[in-house]
Amino acid sequence: MITIVGSLNIDLITKVGCYPKLGETLLGSGFQTKFGGKGANQAVAVRKLGGEVQMIGCVGSDSYGNDYRTYLQKEGISIDNVEPVTHTSTGTATIIVAEGDNSIIVVPGANFALTPEMIESKKDAIAKSEVVVLQLEIPMETVEKVLEIAKENNVTTILNPAPFQSIPSHWWEMITYITPNEHEAAQLMKDVHFKEAYKEKMIMTNGSKGVLYYRNGKEYKISAPKVQVVDTTGAGDTFNGAFAYFLHEGYNLEETCKFATSAASLSVTKFGAQGGMPTLEELQKFMNGQH
Ligand code: RIB
Repeated sequence: MITIVGSLNIDLITKVGCYPKLGETLLGSGFQTKFGGKGANQAVAVRKLGGEVQMIGCVGSDSYGNDYRTYLQKEGISIDNVEPVTHTSTGTATIIVAEGDNSIIVVPGANFALTPEMIESKKDAIAKSEVVVLQLEIPMETVEKVLEIAKENNVTTILNPAPFQSIPSHWWEMITYITPNEHEAAQLMKDVHFKEAYKEKMIMTNGSKGVLYYRNGKEYKISAPKVQVVDTTGAGDTFNGAFAYFLHEGYNLEETCKFATSAASLSVTKFGAQGGMPTLEELQKFMNGQH
């Protein structure tokens, strides 16, 4: 079982030709509401590939939250541990898609209601997993609690340090893999507590350039296939979900990175964070050049 502990957001997406300047009003070319949030996106990426996955997180007791729970269940993702909370609303992400990229403002809402105490009550679900995946759209102390439970139970952990926050030095021994993008990796390595040895845990995504990782002090690169970009939102989440899935399936690091890089490339060919996430069959066809 793969367990994703993280955020569930409703993405409010506006498409526009170019980014507005401060104080400027522009006419956009489209608006859509989609399911998002780094945690749930990664859970959907695993599920689309055929993996068994459970989600741990919080939504509001509002229509967004109810719709999200229903949707995840329909997708075959266990929501036994997706709690509706009453004191705050479901997380939202306001996304502007422009100039071949995106910018995002997240209002965490219910995602910040996922406390270490709540995690304590879900200890068994974490302990029984083979792989746990985390991001940083939930409180840092909650991420720490999950890492501790995973460590105690020899569960493989993947931390996607997004949005970036400094990683406390005592976390490193509890992290099996860390998956920053190139900007997050630069910030990670600037930290005074960062040690050369931690590079061995690092799988760095670098957009259309692909992925870089280190083994025994040597640097390895996996290049990304060229695709027609429609929307890059969720490419990192597709990578992380696919990385967890193929690792869990027993593939080695090189194979896992190749599959995950191709899955992320495919994901940007469609609109929305989850819209382009491939099934296993779609991914295999793509990698065999039959797309
Ligand atoms: O990684 C993309 C995601 O970041 C979006 O779905 C949005 O909800 C934000 O969490």
